[in-house]
Amino acid sequence: MKILVVGGGGREHAIIKKLRLNKSVEEIFAMPGNGGIAADATCVPIGAKDIDAIVDFAVSNKIDYAVVAPDDPLALGCVDALEAKGIPSFGPTAAAAEIEGSKVFAKNLMKKYSIPTAEYETFDDCDKALEYLKGVNAPIVIKADGLALGKGVIIAQSIEEAEEAVRSMMLDGKFGKSGSRVVIEEFLTGPEVSVLAFTDGKTIRPMVSSMDHKRIGDGDTGLNTGGMGTVAPNPYYTEDIAAECMEKIFKPTVAAMNAEGRTFKGCLYFGLMLTPKGPKVIEYNCRFGDPETQVVLPLLKSDLFTVMRAVTEERLSDVSVEFEDGCACCVILASGGYPESYGKGYEIWIPEDIASGTYVAGAEIKDGKLATSGGRVLGVVKTAATLEGAVNGAYEMANRVKFENSYMRHDIGARALAAHNGGK
Ligand code: AMP
Ligand code: GLY
Repeated sequence: MKILVVGGGGREHAIIKKLRLNKSVEEIFAMPGNGGIAADATCVPIGAKDIDAIVDFAVSNKIDYAVVAPDDPLALGCVDALEAKGIPSFGPTAAAAEIEGSKVFAKNLMKKYSIPTAEYETFDDCDKALEYLKGVNAPIVIKADGLALGKGVIIAQSIEEAEEAVRSMMLDGKFGKSGSRVVIEEFLTGPEVSVLAFTDGKTIRPMVSSMDHKRIGDGDTGLNTGGMGTVAPNPYYTEDIAAECMEKIFKPTVAAMNAEGRTFKGCLYFGLMLTPKGPKVIEYNCRFGDPETQVVLPLLKSDLFTVMRAVTEERLSDVSVEFEDGCACCVILASGGYPESYGKGYEIWIPEDIASGTYVAGAEIKDGKLATSGGRVLGVVKTAATLEGAVNGAYEMANRVKFENSYMRHDIGARALAAHNGGK
């Protein structure tokens, strides 16, 4: 079988490494992939948003199955276009990807189907949004409607800051078209949990839970990033909470999408906050999370390709989706300066014995050598029987990877470990 994976980050690297374990998989193409992924797949220099070129390549190379991983091509209808040419694909249609592509759509869906989420109002008129802010208290959360690389969310600590955020999104076009509509919502508190789930629109099979670390600095300080590390499972996500989420959030969401004529097939990502009033949805993503995938898939005992095909063929109820009992930790190494400006082109040294646990996000081959090409460069992942073992192991690996001006957080998993030990 020839497989195509659209995307080129650490998440795609994790998907590719897992797909390779299936013996029927003969060749994997990554589009565009990256210099690190090149060790595990054939990289094709076509951008993940170039839907026409992706489909042409898939047809002329007789691709048997495609996995569309990032949000942009999903929102642009990559799965619709591939399937129209008879290429079975993993991922939602553009209509279903709207659950991530528009926060207004997602919020209205939750309201209509009574799925617990923060109270909110939506606005497409800046004056009305500013008027509304006069009647609320800080902190308050302002979200750009569309895709904004995870950066379109502002937690305003004062009403002045909220007004500033609304103006920058709606008048100054800080997030382009994404910010022409905004959601203003209640500020929630509680531990955050990421739950990725396979669904074919009929059955839903949640994966092991995880915890992201979105801020750049230790102690969750500084700017938001694409994710600086993850652990799985998330110790706050108990069996009771999982059962509650299944009944109040996961099943109702799948049913709501069906009722709206937007059946969701693929990986549905639930960004949850465990508030004092119960679990609530902070966000949906229409895809595998990054860097959650790097800790979730190494713990998957079942065969990924088998599960993905079952999703596409709407027979997920027939296959088992099982996870190891152990834990995993991913530590991201970034280029110093990220998420603002940073240098590129630094040579990367990865010791041979840890290459299999290294998931490359931003690197290219330069003069025959692996060199940095992005802000988040790579993630190292360790699985172990205990969370402590996974965290310590991941940091041992992280300390052995070298490139100039590298940066990592030193507290990935610290909060999870404290929760494990009874603290908060
Ligand atoms: P999102 O892109 O919607 O996941 O938001 C990014 C981050 O902002 C989340 O991971 C939360 O940490 C935070 N956040 C979003 N919405 C809220 C909210 N209503 N209350 C508190 N924090 C929030
Ligand atoms: N880790 C959050 C995301 O993938 O959007």
